[in-house]
Amino acid sequence: MRTHYCGDLSASYCDQTVTLAGWANRRRDHGGVIFIDLRDREGLAQIVCDPDRPEMFKVAESVRNEFCLKITGKVRMRPEGSCNQQIASGEVEVLCHEIEVLNPSVTPPFQLDEENLSENVRLTHRVIDLRRPEMQKNLLLRYRVARAFRRFLDAHGFIDVETPMLTKSTPEGARDYLVPSRVHAGHFFALPQSPQIFKQLLMVSGFDRYYQIVKCFRDEDLRADRQPEFTQVDIETSFLTENDIMALMEEMIRSVFAEALGVALPNPFPRISCAEAMRRFGSDKPDLRVTLELTEITDIARDVAFKVFSEPANSGGRVAALKIPGGAALTRGEIDEYTKFVAIYGAKGLAYIKVNDRSQPNENGLQSPIVKNLHEAALKGILERADAQSGDLIFFGADKTSVVNDAMGALRVKLGHEKGHINQNAWEPVWIVDFPMFERDEAENRWNASHHPFTSPKDEHIALLQSDPGKCLAKAYDLALNGWEIGGGSIRIHRPEVQETVFQALNIGPEEQRAKFGFLLDALRYGAPPHGGLAFGLDRIVTLMAGAASIRDVIAFPKTQRAQCLLSDAPSGVDEKQLRELHVRLRPAA
Ligand code: AMO
Ligand code: AMP
Repeated sequence: MRTHYCGDLSASYCDQTVTLAGWANRRRDHGGVIFIDLRDREGLAQIVCDPDRPEMFKVAESVRNEFCLKITGKVRMRPEGSCNQQIASGEVEVLCHEIEVLNPSVTPPFQLDEENLSENVRLTHRVIDLRRPEMQKNLLLRYRVARAFRRFLDAHGFIDVETPMLTKSTPEGARDYLVPSRVHAGHFFALPQSPQIFKQLLMVSGFDRYYQIVKCFRDEDLRADRQPEFTQVDIETSFLTENDIMALMEEMIRSVFAEALGVALPNPFPRISCAEAMRRFGSDKPDLRVTLELTEITDIARDVAFKVFSEPANSGGRVAALKIPGGAALTRGEIDEYTKFVAIYGAKGLAYIKVNDRSQPNENGLQSPIVKNLHEAALKGILERADAQSGDLIFFGADKTSVVNDAMGALRVKLGHEKGHINQNAWEPVWIVDFPMFERDEAENRWNASHHPFTSPKDEHIALLQSDPGKCLAKAYDLALNGWEIGGGSIRIHRPEVQETVFQALNIGPEEQRAKFGFLLDALRYGAPPHGGLAFGLDRIVTLMAGAASIRDVIAFPKTQRAQCLLSDAPSGVDEKQLRELHVRLRPAA
């Protein structure tokens, strides 16, 4: 139907007759002349309709926003002074000879260039929302990123193998989405939280290098960086060590950023142990653009009179300081706001010291509600360790270690961005390594797998599985970028007896092992190769690249924070007949 894309026109097409097809982005009546901005995937073209072709002009007059049009005309330079530098085709316009309304449009629910649209309106009218240039750009970027991943993986001998969507529960730590079986009354499939077990089975089968760009389903609390169905670039290899895998994967990420975004990421990526990351940044996905760091002062806090510090310091908690260079200039109001902010993470307060005069480590030189409760040696120690200068401010967090890490880690990022304590690099990838095998679930009084239960312990820590699980480190690694976890994986257990020991540490008894993972344990008995891999969150990577506010902006048809599709109105009720076929009876809502 057409000869060119609107956005592709330029001065080199002058005097050519072209046919364009697209949507009326805007129609302007300029006393006798009608201008139509015609929009397609590639951009806008200005169409000029003169009244000297009355038939054509009549049609042009009937055009409204979002009508679908076909236009034939001659490309010419725009008059001096009316060029639009903003758009590629801005130096030319098309003098219209023929215009055909391929399909009119009812009035759209919103103007495409309207700012501050509510997300609910956008998601309800997603079809129109996706016409917006920003959304077109995001999805095109997503396509280029996926293509760059495939290109790299293909060039490195990885093959794409599909794995089932109707399967058994996969232990990634979230709730399952279940699908009732019609054929087997009372039985359910689970949608995969990841292809984890199947990709391991493919290694046992000898495929050596697998990948898949694949949907995963997790019924968990949603946030800006989480969707109930999301996409992983899922990868597994045989006969590679932790180091081999990380080296290959960071080469891939560098190549994807170079190809899709034209960005050169650092080479190599830095590596930090999980323990060091928690100590310095309070997070296992630290934003390394922020230059602020936590300072450990738990030991100093043990013998001070201030109970808020000494109690957690003496009972396995943590006391950490965060020095803000120049922070003495913060106002009372700002400090109150930051105190409210850390409360979101469970912090009971936010003690601070303004360092007015570094040479007087006492009430004369330090301005603070807590100085009178800290002895001089402690104050000296804190100032020294935080390397505080006159004019700085030091914030403190004291509580259970997890609360201090969450609260002070989040404060570090917020303050860093708000007060400009950030370095010049736009992109700061970092590998986090040496994760613990297990996390303590105090409420349930048991150990949970930090990654998933197929993750291998460090060779030298196998004995700890039984004697001291909390000290056992895993061959696991995460890749963080600018404060987001964009990928994670591990070397897997390939010996059945080690796998059984790990299940035992997780309190998964022999019967449950057989029922849930028997097919994996069996497979490991047939000469399973040493293997490992990881998965990247495609939605998150594209969100970061696009600079989008949420991962919903890089997914064509996402779910809301309440796990609904506003466009199709899913989930929705079903017929009684369908329920009966599925052997399902609904309980009255509680
Ligand atoms: P993991 O659970 O760490 O590992 O997931 C891998 C990556 O997927 C992304 N991700 C998500 N993105 C959007 N919404 C979600 N709800 C969501 N959950 C996770 C993150 C994360 O880093 N099978 C293992 C991988 C392996 O061991 O090979 C796994 O799924 O970016
Ligand atoms: P209080 O003794 O409760 O008046 O607190 C004195 C100072 O300590 C105030 O600035 C509080 O914000 C701060 N504070 C209280 N609890 C904590 C805590 N758990 N961690 C850090 N600071 C705290």
